[in-house]
Amino acid sequence: MASFARQLLGVAVVTGAGGTGIGAAVAKGFVRSGCTKIAITDINSKTLTQTKEAILTINPSAKVLDKPGDIADENFVNTFHDEVFRKFSRLDYAVNCAGVLGSKTVKAVDMPTDDFDRLNDINYKGSWLSCRAQLRNMLQQEALPKQRKQRGSIVNIASQLGIVARPGAAAYCASKAAIINMTRANAIDYSDEGIRVNCVCPGVIETPMTTSSPEMAEALKPAINIAPMKRMGSPNEVADAVLFLCSSQASFIQGHALVVDGGYTIN
Ligand SMILES: NC(=O)c1ccc[n+]([C@@H]2O[C@H](COP(=O)([O-])OP(=O)(O)OC[C@H]3O[C@@H](n4cnc5c(N)ncnc54)[C@H](O)[C@@H]3O)[C@@H](O)[C@H]2O)c1
Repeated sequence: MASFARQLLGVAVVTGAGGTGIGAAVAKGFVRSGCTKIAITDINSKTLTQTKEAILTINPSAKVLDKPGDIADENFVNTFHDEVFRKFSRLDYAVNCAGVLGSKTVKAVDMPTDDFDRLNDINYKGSWLSCRAQLRNMLQQEALPKQRKQRGSIVNIASQLGIVARPGAAAYCASKAAIINMTRANAIDYSDEGIRVNCVCPGVIETPMTTSSPEMAEALKPAINIAPMKRMGSPNEVADAVLFLCSSQASFIQGHALVVDGGYTIN
């Protein structure tokens, strides 16, 4: 279980927060770190409700806005963020975790264009739409006291596969590389406004994405064994890095892509 000395006392948004993956761990980590106003979204309404219940178990008086929807849908993303701002009057931390890997490995010539479009609509465009809505909200507020003039902090979830590539995942690798450079570009554009934008690049993490299909679990074995630590990471290990980047303890970290990968990318 992730526990934190740091205090995250503002308002948080987490996308892809349903279930038992990274987003759910981040959402629960926020609440364990003192955050009492949190908005969560996921395309899966059932797993989103599970995360809401888990949050309320941690802190029964937390205020939770949960709204299911498709992160690739511009209208949904804008409406959701408008609702967050109306309900909580500000947005201090935003973490964009919604993403898909695809159920099997596939090389370029075997990938239908529709599959490529859907993957990029969720991973890259979904992150871009979310960041845009979050920046619009953060620009409307001043920094909270004792936050080192931090007006807002956004953390996108990219991947080690945004930095290096692996067989049969060209579209996914490219979508995550896009998130890393979008993060840098937004960090440059909004530094003067007191907003930090960073991303975390997880290695192979034990979540439904990597464990629910036997084929995918088999395909990932070499990647786990290449990493010096030779194991999967846990969602909480990624959440720890995300929450650090959100916090004012990371007040001079800007546009960074922080790998949390058991050493995969150094090998
Ligand atoms: N698990 C890993 O090994 C790993 C490694 C690197 C990066 N990542 C990234 O971490 C993020 C979280 O993944 P995870 O491992 O926790 O997997 P996960 O499948 O548990 O979580 C992804 C969540 O995104 C949601 N989602 C999918 N499509 C959506 C859509 N169109 N709109 C809204 N929500 C949608 C899913 O319902 C799910 O709850 C993803 O961006 C993933 O690419 C995961």
